Amino acid sequence: MTVMSIQKMPALSVDRLVKTFDVSAPWLNRLIERKPRQVLQAVNDITFHVPMGGCLSLVGESGCGKSTVARLVTGLYKPDTGDIRFAPGQDGKPLSAQMIFQDPYASLNPRWRVKNIIAEPLRELKLRNSKAEITERVEELLKTVGLSASDGEKFPHEFSGGQRQRISIARALAGEPRFLVCDEPTSALDVSVQAQVLNLMRRLQDEFGLTYLFISHDLSVVRHMSDRIAVMYLGRIVEEGDTEDLFAKPRHPYTQLLLETIPNVKHPHRDRVVAGGEVPSPLKPPSGCPFHPRCPIATARCSEEIPPVRTLASGTRVACHFVTEQ
Ligand SMILES: Nc1ncnc2c1ncn2[C@@H]1O[C@H](COP(=O)(O)OP(=O)(O)OP(=O)(O)O)[C@@H](O)[C@H]1O
Ligand code: SF4
Ligand SMILES: [Mg+2]
Repeated sequence: MTVMSIQKMPALSVDRLVKTFDVSAPWLNRLIERKPRQVLQAVNDITFHVPMGGCLSLVGESGCGKSTVARLVTGLYKPDTGDIRFAPGQDGKPLSAQMIFQDPYASLNPRWRVKNIIAEPLRELKLRNSKAEITERVEELLKTVGLSASDGEKFPHEFSGGQRQRISIARALAGEPRFLVCDEPTSALDVSVQAQVLNLMRRLQDEFGLTYLFISHDLSVVRHMSDRIAVMYLGRIVEEGDTEDLFAKPRHPYTQLLLETIPNVKHPHRDRVVAGGEVPSPLKPPSGCPFHPRCPIATARCSEEIPPVRTLASGTRVACHFVTEQ
C-alpha cells in the first residue's frame, strides 16, 4: 500500500449499521396482559466514514442513538447487521479505539489512586513492565493532560469535574490508542471548563495524530472540533457533511432547526430546546420521513415515503425529499 492510499483510507468505516433492543416485558406479563413483543430501533441503517487523523462528530437530541453508535464502534455492543471497520495501523492490525465517557466520575474507580487508574491499561496491555517505568509513564501522562505528577497520589473525588475528565483522558491515552470515541466528554462541565477540555483534546489530536469520533447534543460544541458533522434523528443520519458547509448552508430542515437554536451574539439567551415539539418515541417511529411531525415544510409525501440519502456535489449527504443542489 502506498503512503497516499493509507492517508486517504478512512480510519473508521461504518456501513449500514443497525441495532435494535428488545424492550418487551417478561414473557409471563406479556401473556397475561396480552402485550406484543416490543423492539426498539436505536440505530437505523447508519453509514459514515471518519477521515484518518480527522474528527467526525455525531450530533442530535437525546435518544437519537449517539451513544449506541459509540458502543457499537468500541465493541461494547454487537450490531444486528452492518459493518464496522478500522483501518490497519502501522503494525498491520486494525487501529485500537478507546472511549471517553460523559461522566468522568462514574467511569473512574473511586477507591483507586489516580496513578493506579492511569497505570491499569499500561499493566493490562504490558506497555511498560518495571515499576519505575510505569511510574515514569504515569507522571508523563498526567503532565500531558495538564495535571501534576503529585496528583497521582490523590483519589478521583479530590478533583473538579474538568480535572476528572483530564484523568479519564490520561487513562485513555495510556493504552496508546490511535482512535478516540468521545461520548459527550464535556456535557457535564461548566462552559469555561468545557472550552479548556476541548482545547486540550484538540492539542492532543495534533500531538499524537489521533482520530476522533466525537459525540454531542450541541452543534456549537463540535463546530471547532470537527472536520465533518453527521446530524442524527431517531436512529438515522439525516445530514452529513463538511463542518463549514453545514454551518454555512444547512440543507436538512432538522439541521436548520438545530442551528437556529444555538445561542449567538444576537440572541445570547436563546432557548437551547429545539422548537417544533418533542422527538417521537423510537418504539413508535413516524411513517415516512421520521422528522415529518416536526418539519415546517412537510407535505403528504413526507408521511408516506422514507427519503433516500442523496449525495450532493459538495459531498454533503442528506435525506430529505425536497433538498436540491441549489
Ligand atoms: N441497552 C439498552 N436497552 C434498551 N434500550 C436502549 C439501550 N440503550 C439505548 N436504548 C434506547 O435506544 C435509544 C438511543 O439511545 P442512546 O443512548 O444511543 O441515545 P443518545 O443519543 O446517546 O441520547 P443522550 O443524548 O440522551 O445520551 C433510546 O431510545 C434508548 O432508550
Ligand atoms: S422529507 Fe419532508 S418531512 Fe422529511 S425533512 Fe424533508 S421536507 Fe421535512
Ligand atoms: Mg448518549
